[in-house]
Amino acid sequence: MDILSKIKTLLNTMSLKEKIGQLNQESCDMENMELIKERIRHGQLGSVILATSATSGNDEQRKTPTDIINELQRTALKESPLGIPLLFGRDVIHGHKTVLPIPLALSATFHPELVKTGYRCIAQEAANDGIQWTFAPMLDISRDPRWGRCIEGVGEDPYLGTKMAEVIVKGFQGDNPADKDTLAACAKHYIGYGAMDGGRDYGQAEISDYTLRNIYLRPFQSAIKSGVATVMTAFHELNGTAPSASRYLVHDLLKEELGFDGFVVSDWASIEQLISQGIARDRQQAAELAIKAGVDMDMSCRCYADYLEELVNTGRISMETLHESVTRILYIKYKFGLFEHPYSTHIPINSSRHREIAKSCSDESMVLLKNQNHILPLSPQKRIVAIGPLLYEKRALLGNWVLDGDEEQVSTVANALKKIHPNIILTSSPYLWEDCLPDIRKADAVIVVLGESKKMSGEANSLAHVELPPEQFAYIKRIHALGKPLIGVMCFGRPIAMEEAEPYLEAILYAWHCGTCTGESIASILYGEVNPSGKLPMTFPRCTGQIPIYYNHPASSRHEYFYYTETDNGANTYHDCRSTPLYPFGYGLSYTQFSYRNLSVEPSCLSIKELLAGKTFRISAALQNIGNCTGKEVAQCYLHARASSMARPLRELKGFVKKELAPLEEQQITFQLGYKELAFYNAQSKWVVEPGLFDLYVGTDCYASNALVISVKP
Ligand code: GLC
Repeated sequence: MDILSKIKTLLNTMSLKEKIGQLNQESCDMENMELIKERIRHGQLGSVILATSATSGNDEQRKTPTDIINELQRTALKESPLGIPLLFGRDVIHGHKTVLPIPLALSATFHPELVKTGYRCIAQEAANDGIQWTFAPMLDISRDPRWGRCIEGVGEDPYLGTKMAEVIVKGFQGDNPADKDTLAACAKHYIGYGAMDGGRDYGQAEISDYTLRNIYLRPFQSAIKSGVATVMTAFHELNGTAPSASRYLVHDLLKEELGFDGFVVSDWASIEQLISQGIARDRQQAAELAIKAGVDMDMSCRCYADYLEELVNTGRISMETLHESVTRILYIKYKFGLFEHPYSTHIPINSSRHREIAKSCSDESMVLLKNQNHILPLSPQKRIVAIGPLLYEKRALLGNWVLDGDEEQVSTVANALKKIHPNIILTSSPYLWEDCLPDIRKADAVIVVLGESKKMSGEANSLAHVELPPEQFAYIKRIHALGKPLIGVMCFGRPIAMEEAEPYLEAILYAWHCGTCTGESIASILYGEVNPSGKLPMTFPRCTGQIPIYYNHPASSRHEYFYYTETDNGANTYHDCRSTPLYPFGYGLSYTQFSYRNLSVEPSCLSIKELLAGKTFRISAALQNIGNCTGKEVAQCYLHARASSMARPLRELKGFVKKELAPLEEQQITFQLGYKELAFYNAQSKWVVEPGLFDLYVGTDCYASNALVISVKP
């Protein structure tokens, strides 16, 4: 019998209360365990969230022991009338025991296959602890580093976002979702949560349908195409409504137009919050709005549990609507094998391999932003001193959104440096430097490990100033006055604005919060064991005042290229700041250099009909390592439609490929651009390719100047 037949049979035996119970998710801890068990016995719970507060990343969410998870599951299977298994969910964002870099840093790898392997490891570790559903990937495109949750997303670019969405979903869900080492994934926060005014969390966003579809929707489309099990609606207001109450966004766009066949879960109490948003007068109306919008499961506020029965009995909610939600939830439970293997069973974990994968991820996430006079890589023969507020830090390096990370596995930067360079001089405590003043005076260079605590980014942790923290800026100025070259290691979650600090640093390695192996990767890169290959997934502004600033902006009437060049007539948008970012999208240095030659495209002209028939523009170039050490390059391909029915971006990433080349080695790189890459949603929300001329750019970041022109005929 296929899944839908099984569901139909089950539905026919379920009472109204049991149907509503499947739509209800609650948290469970030792205090409310008996109450939760009683509800489970009466079939009034469909899922348990393994968290006890609404801003998990900031609060220490105690781990629920696997035997407790199994005890709750046994209660559902053995003591409830129909024995429908519970679905256990937890925020497994970018790691479990072994922790990968924050998702924003993982985007900086521009290495989807590596990220997928990393998420496979996470899924195995979390499944091993009884977790069946994760509330990730977070796919909110963000152009605003003031927003603390930009660390959790995929960056500012839709195309990169689609690639990361695909591999994170496939990493979590595996090749066969019914296997025991998979997690049901959750694309969140639908939709536009990264575009809030001022970067203020839980705030307001106004996004035209044109921009919503061409920018914010793209990663969600990719997740759906990759079979994502669930989608979570966002907290904020979008265009005057809330996603949890918007039938257009959830039922019409997500489920009908995009064909999403899993289930939609609200964010923590985001149904009840419709009241504080002024969209619902009370909890009953909140429940009615949400279920009619297409939100299938209520996370942690019991609006459905308390009011759906009356809403159905009074005819305000049809039984068909209820059945739609129950069916979607049961479908995922069947699809992920919960009826076959409802209990958590031990899965063998290869922890050392997981750590190796985590190390590769952090190696490739870090971005070398500056390397003046090629001061890097260092050699152990050099006299080096290491100081700085995060030199001995562990917890921050794991990142904000880590609930079960094993801090004992984390090496401090100090220990990792000492392991590679035993004679390195280390200050004795974070903000001190006077204790090694004599050594600094004799040193060839000073490593300064800066950064932010895990509580400075993540949910509800926005910043009105994203400049280097004043005390850290003052610190590097003091050290700089000693006349030694400074190597800045930046362990921040979000992009920070470094225009003032940059001149004081000879080299800058952006190390993010890269998880378990942050320290080792920093040491490996500083000493040349690893050649940095990360590229920026978000623009780095010069100062907070430039935000929002992003590479894929359309040409404007007069400051048309402000992101790319400063016009010399002063019309460069600000009196008090240059118009270009400090570091652009896709930027990142290597210890070697790469050249791009023989850029060509075949054919140079195609008709829309040919594109619809699957023909593509095939772009190729010769990529050569012209330096003296092996390195990885992320070759990027950008498109610019010169004239369209809508203002199109000056540059749009349409392809990238990461290649490792030995010195002088040359490889051919190719990009295929077809209908999908040339299309966009027009003013009528139609997915179209329009005839005209297109500039193509291939190079090492969005400033790529190797250009070609292609044309599309009607
Ligand atoms: C939080 C977050 C969401 C998370 C959920 C469950 O408030 O917004 O990303 O998955 O609640 O912890």
